[in-house]
Amino acid sequence: MKTSQIIWDFPTRAFHWLLVLTVAGGLITGFLAPDSWLMIHVWFGTAVLALITFRLIWGLVGSYHSRFSSFIYSRRETRDHILGLLKRKPSKHLGHNPLGALMIFILIGTLLVITLSGFVVLGGEEKQGPLAGVVPYFIGKGVEDIHETLAGFLLFLIGGHLFGVVVESLLSKENLAKSMVTGRKAIPDIDSDNTDTVKGGVHRGVSVAGVVGLVVVLALFLIGIPTISGAVTESVIPTDVSNTQYSTECGDCHHAFHPSLLPKESWFKMMNELDNHFGEDASLDGKVVQSLEAFLINNSSEIWDTRAANLFRNVNPKKPLQITATKRWKHIHEDVPDTAFQHKLVGTKTNCAGCHSGTQVGMFADYTVQMPKGF
Ligand code: HEC
Ligand code: HEC
Repeated sequence: MKTSQIIWDFPTRAFHWLLVLTVAGGLITGFLAPDSWLMIHVWFGTAVLALITFRLIWGLVGSYHSRFSSFIYSRRETRDHILGLLKRKPSKHLGHNPLGALMIFILIGTLLVITLSGFVVLGGEEKQGPLAGVVPYFIGKGVEDIHETLAGFLLFLIGGHLFGVVVESLLSKENLAKSMVTGRKAIPDIDSDNTDTVKGGVHRGVSVAGVVGLVVVLALFLIGIPTISGAVTESVIPTDVSNTQYSTECGDCHHAFHPSLLPKESWFKMMNELDNHFGEDASLDGKVVQSLEAFLINNSSEIWDTRAANLFRNVNPKKPLQITATKRWKHIHEDVPDTAFQHKLVGTKTNCAGCHSGTQVGMFADYTVQMPKGF
């Protein structure tokens, strides 16, 4: 009589350990890495979403013990298992036990919400990713809290999962973590015609199909999502101000501020007082003023939904023409030392491009900030 048999097919094991790696990567880059790692964090999240997608499919078509139907337990079975655990004699299961199964469903659900909400945040706040064109900034901002709270909850779940594996391993005297490597589990000491045992076989063909499926899903997500993102982002980024009349006329004395950084009102006022522009005479020909005014108003902060447009829409009523006078601008930059603004590669705080890339399209993001050397 056989004493052990393959319970976890290779695709399920590969899924499990790849998930461990990518979730660890996502958690580390999310909680500990600097802002500039955002895109690596997104890569891990995409891989997790791909793996979960594969598992959802595999849970329907995989080999017997990988299928969800084989580990959906009734409340009574779960209760009996818990009672057995308390007596240190938990009911034996070749596949997942009732508590393990419950944990798997909660983990999969949580990971699904975390990764999907991540794309909502990315699309809404950063105007990146496949949802860039559909999620408004304020929704992205709100969902960020859910994303982060669930990530904390995930840490707690992982702790519970590890604890469960250790406890069940000790009580059943079988190393469950090792089973997830070899795929093998001991056959419980019950009738050899136990239907569970008979059904549990893993066909080679099924495993091969699973591996192909896993690779295809991973490739689709990891290549497809960045490709779609690129195309979507192109369509939602604000007008490029380089090589326009604006950058020639208004980029002479200082950085050509993107029109999305101030509201209509401010631009209107500024364009009507050019003869006294912060103590300088910046007067222009009437026609040029008209055309620039139209350009600024058509691209003002009310028009765009980028982070910068949202942040600087509420101007300081006393200095309604200065982006750098808004509470928000000051607050965001409060940790940036004055010496950084005075650095020879920056010069003044109005030289946004000294530290930010993407300024010509009004895209300011903390993960692309490049401070001068030494800061
Ligand atoms: C003759 C030089 C000159 C020209 C031309 C000029 N500016 Fe200015 N601008 C200044 C000076 C000086 C300041 C105040 C100092 C600073 O903030 O750098 C200023 C400040 C600003 C500010 C406020 C920046 C902040 O948040 O502190 C905005 C916005 C601005 N200018 C827009 C424009 C626009 C739009 C045009 C084109 C119509 C323009 N400027 C053309 C000299 C000029
Ligand atoms: C000396 C370098 C420097 C200059 C100059 C500078 N910034 Fe920044 N900016 C930063 C840094 C650093 C951060 C990130 C702050 C943080 O995350 O704590 C930042 C953050 C921002 C953010 C928020 C981005 C995000 O994803 O949270 C916006 C918007 C922004 N800056 C706009 C501007 C504008 C507009 C100007 C020009 C008027 C400007 N900055 C000039 C260094 C600079």
